[in-house]
Amino acid sequence: MKLHKLILNNFKNFEHFEAQFHPQVNAFTGNNGVGKTNLLDAVYALAMGKSYFGLTNRQLIRHGENFYSIKAVFQRDNDTYEVLLKYREGEKKSLAVNGKEYTRLSDHIGLIPVVMISPYDRDLISESGETRRRFADRLIAQYDKDYLNNLIRYTRTLQQRNSLLKYFAANGTFDATRLETYDESLARYAAVIHAKRQQFVQSLAPLLAEKYKHIAGTGEQPGLTYRSALNLTDARELLHKNIERDRLLQYTSDGVHRDDLMFTLNGHPIKKFGSQGQQKSFLVALRLAEADMLFSRKNDAPILLFDDIFDKLDPQRVHRILDYVKHRPFGQVFITDTHPERVSLLLEALDRQAGIYEL
Ligand SMILES: Nc1ncnc2c1ncn2[C@@H]1O[C@H](COP(=O)(O)OP(=O)(O)O)[C@@H](O)[C@H]1O
Ligand SMILES: [Mg+2]
Repeated sequence: MKLHKLILNNFKNFEHFEAQFHPQVNAFTGNNGVGKTNLLDAVYALAMGKSYFGLTNRQLIRHGENFYSIKAVFQRDNDTYEVLLKYREGEKKSLAVNGKEYTRLSDHIGLIPVVMISPYDRDLISESGETRRRFADRLIAQYDKDYLNNLIRYTRTLQQRNSLLKYFAANGTFDATRLETYDESLARYAAVIHAKRQQFVQSLAPLLAEKYKHIAGTGEQPGLTYRSALNLTDARELLHKNIERDRLLQYTSDGVHRDDLMFTLNGHPIKKFGSQGQQKSFLVALRLAEADMLFSRKNDAPILLFDDIFDKLDPQRVHRILDYVKHRPFGQVFITDTHPERVSLLLEALDRQAGIYEL
């Protein structure tokens, strides 16, 4: 998939922005704060229906205005997709492809495969399991609709179950049978989610090892494992086992909503024992593995969004990444950098043609 054209109105710092892109590499350059990252976020939002940074629709509206719109023309082989994402205060967000509006935003996920590589990726290592679950969910959802549907239903049912637990506590009542009306469907969705996450980790781990070797150029072994209560217990049994505790806590204490991914290097948690450089290499490797996985599952090269990554890595690693990208049939790449000269050098190294946009 390639992004051919982008038009923004009142999106973040842009009152109006319009550009046509090169099919291979595009670079946004300019000082801090000019909106380079915002442009990548606009592309991401068109693919995933929401901001990469978890911003609300209101926060995406240019200060002082009351709507934003992001419009783009994507091309894949001979097909053209005109995607329009818009939001006006007080109205529902709307997403349309070729003039046809989706009734469910989730139906759009996966049409435009995209991978963002950003300085915020460090959160994947430093933050809680929620961040890593979101990483897995967003990736799997892009190639597996059934996964996304189960996840949406699971989340909704979980909220209902939690509300009931709160209701019981507030009213000093309890009815196990009523609680268990949720458990059957919850367990069914959980089993699908668990099985698909397991397959996901199994496929991603070897890709991660391959990319890491390439980037770090060392024999260290990165590891990726899946931690879930459902690795040992069946979902229905788990809910049943935790009833007393859930009743006390007034929420569902365990399940796939508490799953986590463990990142290791030579068997040790990378968060505790990895150096800065090792952690960065791990994260870039993880993202490149993500891109590979999307590519093979969707038979479509994802759009790569590289935000400031060359600012954060030593020249040797950057060189290895470039070398890697150069020898892969990646689709289209967008990079941001404060230094136009560095971008020119980079493109020379890539031996790629490019469009350069100075903001
Ligand atoms: N809703 C908004 N309205 C107006 N300006 C915004 C909004 N959100 C972010 N900005 C501005 O966007 C700029 C940051 O853009 P960013 O893409 O992060 O810059 P860069 O990546 O080029 O350093 C800041 O100046 C910030 O104030
Ligand atoms: Mg930036």
